[in-house]
Amino acid sequence: MIEVEPRQFQCPGYYIRAASTPFEARGAAALRHRVFVTEQRIFEGHDRDEIDLVATHLVALSTYASEADEIVGTVRIHEDAPGLWWGSRLAVDRDFRAISRLGVELIRLAVRTARARGCTTFLAHVQMQNVPMFRRLHWQDIQEVSLHGVPHMRMQADLAAYPPCPDPVAGWYHRCPPREEAAR
Ligand SMILES: CC(C)(COP(=O)(O)OP(=O)(O)OC[C@H]1O[C@@H](n2cnc3c(N)ncnc32)[C@H](O)[C@@H]1OP(=O)(O)O)[C@@H](O)C(=O)NCCC(=O)NCCS
Repeated sequence: MIEVEPRQFQCPGYYIRAASTPFEARGAAALRHRVFVTEQRIFEGHDRDEIDLVATHLVALSTYASEADEIVGTVRIHEDAPGLWWGSRLAVDRDFRAISRLGVELIRLAVRTARARGCTTFLAHVQMQNVPMFRRLHWQDIQEVSLHGVPHMRMQADLAAYPPCPDPVAGWYHRCPPREEAAR
């Protein structure tokens, strides 16, 4: 059998959709633990909070032979006041970062889902190293804040750049561009 390093294997495409099964919910929780507890050490023990109970959890699923395989990305959204939505806990598995634009696809599904549910303002607290990425995706800086001892930028999405997505459970299939195209 040929062993393939995760980074050498290019997954042909990903499902970007709302979590609707226990497998997807468990995968999202495990990924968040790997990223926010083990890797970034922002939380000790676990990163769950009361927002998890009311949030919609979105996931990116890798595929293998056209079937959904593993949860490799996640983000959650929730409505805090009428029309005011927040995105949080955006995470992509280390082996899948900066290769397939999963962060971008999850942000798109997050804002588009909220829009279809009546969102008039969409905010997120973004870790400073990720601010340039959000700016490129039509987000504006609002205010610097410290959360869990880590500097963040409160940012707001330009809703005009995100058409409503009325069926997030169906979501979409994100086909990866070939490597040479992605590198351009
Ligand atoms: C931030 C994160 C979700 C981005 O996911 P990703 O799948 O690697 O990002 P994408 O591949 O969609 O990136 C899109 C573009 O932004 C760029 N980008 C990604 N992270 C970036 C960063 N921190 N700063 C600047 N650019 C960045 C990518 O290179 C890519 O560039 P391109 O448009 O020229 O191809 C991922 O790096 C991650 O999980 N980090 C650890 C947890 C974290 O920081 N969560 C966010 C809390 S706000």
